[in-house]
Amino acid sequence: GSSSSPLQSLEMTANVSKIYRERIFDGKVVFVTGGAGSICRGQVEALVSLGADAVIVGRRQNILDKAASEIAQLRYGARVIGIAADVRDDQSLKAAVDRAIEQFGRLDLLICGAAGNFLAPVDNLSANAFKQVVAIDLLGTFNTVKAAIPHLKKTKGKILFVSATLHYTGVPFQSHVAAAKAGIDALAKNLAVEYGPWGITTNVIAPGPIGETEGMSRLLPQELKDKADSAIPMQRMGRIQDIADATVFLFSDAAQWINGAILVVDGGAWLRDQSG
Ligand code: HXC
Repeated sequence: GSSSSPLQSLEMTANVSKIYRERIFDGKVVFVTGGAGSICRGQVEALVSLGADAVIVGRRQNILDKAASEIAQLRYGARVIGIAADVRDDQSLKAAVDRAIEQFGRLDLLICGAAGNFLAPVDNLSANAFKQVVAIDLLGTFNTVKAAIPHLKKTKGKILFVSATLHYTGVPFQSHVAAAKAGIDALAKNLAVEYGPWGITTNVIAPGPIGETEGMSRLLPQELKDKADSAIPMQRMGRIQDIADATVFLFSDAAQWINGAILVVDGGAWLRDQSG
């Protein structure tokens, strides 16, 4: 009966605002590193539910396969595949993009979201620990772009990085992540200028604190979450859907002339003076 039609189940589960028109990403293919994770998975869910097919990339095939088949259920006919790769390895990324092209024949949208994080004061941070986070976040973003650019040129594609706000100020025990994310912002500006003439836009979303993510559960104990809510001007932590909605906007035709922008999506959190 109609109560279990694919469209109705989409309305109940899609991680995206209903203000967006259905099928706006019909025929588009999105390639997402970190796509099985929390924030990036929400981005993929939104794009797939609005018409895109998706390739999600991560290190573990079993986790990718499970996420891919769940995401594919959001829209009747959606194609979502998981490809295992380590973003630190340029050859691994190149192979992943080659496979994506084999499967889907094109690439329109790129999200570089794979990230690594832990809390550590500098005097407890080995050179390798610093290097690995920079290698995942910053070099991984470069490797992904490098592999995808030839295909994005053909489709006048759109690139989106997932950054942070912690490097706008100073956050204890996050020097490695702050350095990596600052580099990501810089890389986006350069790409915006270099590849704008090809019709490719490059933008950044800088999420504030998002509840119910792997990163947040690692960084913020539950008992501090209530205090965190009231410290944010909008009086709540972010939701995965907040980032997904901003992603849909930046990938839509409404954002055709937005290039090299860093869109902070944080309820005003980083602007607030915490000392008062
Ligand atoms: C100090 C640590 C550490 C810790 C790891 N290391 N954890 N040092 N304190 N808590 C050190 C290790 O000792 C090692 O250095 C080096 O880091 C690499 O660790 P490995 O375990 O060998 O690396 P690997 O298995 O590749 O894992 C990478 C990782 C891991 C970054 C350490 O956490 C990871 O894979 N994370 C991916 C998932 C994730 O974190 N997602 C959350 C993203 S949230 P030595 O010297 O011993 O070799 C996010 C939000 C950002 O990014 C914005 C927040 C506001």
